Amino acid sequence: MKKLTHPRTMQRLARSWQREGLPVALVPTMGALHAGHASLIKHARRRVGEAGRVIVSLFVNPTQFGPQEDFQRYPRSEAADLKLCRSLGVDAAFTPKIESIYPSEAGRAFSTFVKEASLSQGMEGDTRPLHFQGVATVVMILFQVTQPSLAVFGEKDFQQAAVIKRMVRDLWLPIETIVSPTVREPDGLAISSRNAYLVPEERRHASILWQCIERARARVRGRIDPTPAAPLRQSLTRQIRNAPGAELDYIQFFDPDTLRPQTQLRKNHRIALAVRFGHTRLIDNGAL
Ligand code: PAJ
Repeated sequence: MKKLTHPRTMQRLARSWQREGLPVALVPTMGALHAGHASLIKHARRRVGEAGRVIVSLFVNPTQFGPQEDFQRYPRSEAADLKLCRSLGVDAAFTPKIESIYPSEAGRAFSTFVKEASLSQGMEGDTRPLHFQGVATVVMILFQVTQPSLAVFGEKDFQQAAVIKRMVRDLWLPIETIVSPTVREPDGLAISSRNAYLVPEERRHASILWQCIERARARVRGRIDPTPAAPLRQSLTRQIRNAPGAELDYIQFFDPDTLRPQTQLRKNHRIALAVRFGHTRLIDNGAL
């Protein structure tokens, strides 16, 4: 496995692969790799085959964190991450320094941003106003540097994947974007780097997000008539209130293509929710 820290050397390698006609897959991450990331990497490998190339980027992107958010304390574990990548047969790990992605010297400070203006609204976009602009910008940079034919994202961050897909379509990027299923703990909690922040008591109650998804699904599935969203939201809100330490940020029912909120729910609409436990904010979503 090659480890590259400078965008120029990464881009040179990627272009040489491209000239050889090899399929190249990119899995963008912020490191602190876990089983969810591993499943994306395996998905990427299956898609490009043994002859193809898999690149994993590891970069905690400052521009997608709000001023009060956890950029400073976001978990970092580069040595373990590289070991995992190696064991999964990754061809290149791209670990840029902040300065090489966002130069800040006088006269050549970074000043170009990508803003998706529709799907970024609502849900995560309401709570985290510049978040998706930071995500779209860094993913665009990673795409330019690694020149992938394919990129893999997780369904865990459904809105993020939708924003990226829209950016790819609107800007005619020649990249296939794949969305890979959410990997969960045995009790249903979606695996996340931020789960490491939870104290044991919080961790015990964190499966409440998954319980809400399952409960909503049970209400909607197998019905001919649509299910009204308002009473369902009320009963899920009550359920979250009863979980010690849990504080609801939002519950949204939405259409998977437009991300528009829905008041009458049918199968294939989705539920997304964000719940805080102390300083830790967890998100999850699922199909109804
Ligand atoms: P990060 O949170 O590290 O996640 C990297 C990728 O892993 C994302 O596509 C995310 O949806 C996926 N992922 C996370 N947990 C998962 C799980 N339990 N099951 C399946 N996939 C999971 O998302 C980001 O980083 C950043 O915003 C990034 C796209 C790298 C841009 O900075």
